Amino acid sequence: MSEGYGLLKGKKGIIFGALDERSIAWRIALACKREGAEFVLSNAPVALRLGALDALGEETGAPIIGCDVTKDDEIEELMNKTKEHFGGGVDFVLHAIGMSPNVRKKKNYTDLNYKWMQKTLDISAISLHRVLQHAEEKGILNDGGSVVALSYIGAQRVFSKYSDMNDAKALLESIARNYGSRLAERGIRVNTVSQAPTKTSAGTGIKGFDGMYTFADMIAPMGNPSADECADYCVTLFSDLTRKVTMQNLYHDGGFVTSGISEEMINDLAELYSQKEEA
Ligand SMILES: NC(=O)c1ccc[n+]([C@@H]2O[C@H](COP(=O)([O-])OP(=O)(O)OC[C@H]3O[C@@H](n4cnc5c(N)ncnc54)[C@H](O)[C@@H]3O)[C@@H](O)[C@H]2O)c1
Repeated sequence: MSEGYGLLKGKKGIIFGALDERSIAWRIALACKREGAEFVLSNAPVALRLGALDALGEETGAPIIGCDVTKDDEIEELMNKTKEHFGGGVDFVLHAIGMSPNVRKKKNYTDLNYKWMQKTLDISAISLHRVLQHAEEKGILNDGGSVVALSYIGAQRVFSKYSDMNDAKALLESIARNYGSRLAERGIRVNTVSQAPTKTSAGTGIKGFDGMYTFADMIAPMGNPSADECADYCVTLFSDLTRKVTMQNLYHDGGFVTSGISEEMINDLAELYSQKEEA
């Protein structure tokens, strides 16, 4: 790990969603620690039972507080414990939470189970609203703070295998904008970072993930950014260097979103289709 720049010195935060070493939230926690922040780590009780998070807690000196983000009482409890731990509020919140039972069970978009879809939206999008509402009620968000939630370009474009997560990300980005407008007068920023496909537990659980990963990697002029690179970007958003960046969906994708097709793909496709024509 490099030495860092001290960008988050004195800052306190809550980091949701670190499951294992590959998790984007795990990499963000390490980067926040490197930059001098203190934080609490939170994940659903069922995820904590796997035990992997203990190692991150030890490495970063962060307490681990269980919380299922679909349950109001558990979020309230988390806010109380966090306030008690820091003796005050927090300056940043990372929301790196996503789960779709429909994707997990490989349900097609035209054959969704609606109970599961509600779960998808509740866990992956509405939870951002819940967390912010409870944080405000408990007076735990400091003025000038920063909230980042992780999104995906499925919010803007159709990626068939991403199923109802496309809808969840569109809602997540809308909540970030709308809550951001309410918190702006206190100088609190709310943004989403739209990260490229990344090889994590949630990512690789999607049918067709490898195809989506390779497609994005070939089209993006800089290639897919890693979870560690995403972490560095999030650090800048938590820092005081981005004080007036709010209500944005910020692409962290190596240039994918504004690219059409790469030279390599044009050449490969031309060859592939000429072979098909000859056959
Ligand atoms: N991996 C990718 O390709 C990719 C790309 C863009 C955006 N993202 C987003 O990044 C975020 C982090 O995902 P990741 O790829 O690091 O995978 P991950 O599986 O490591 O993280 C997802 C986390 O959500 C947590 N979670 C699920 N249900 C929960 C609940 N009810 N309460 C609290 N936590 C719950 C899981 O325990 C897990 O820690 C997600 O929002 C994901 O959609 C991922």
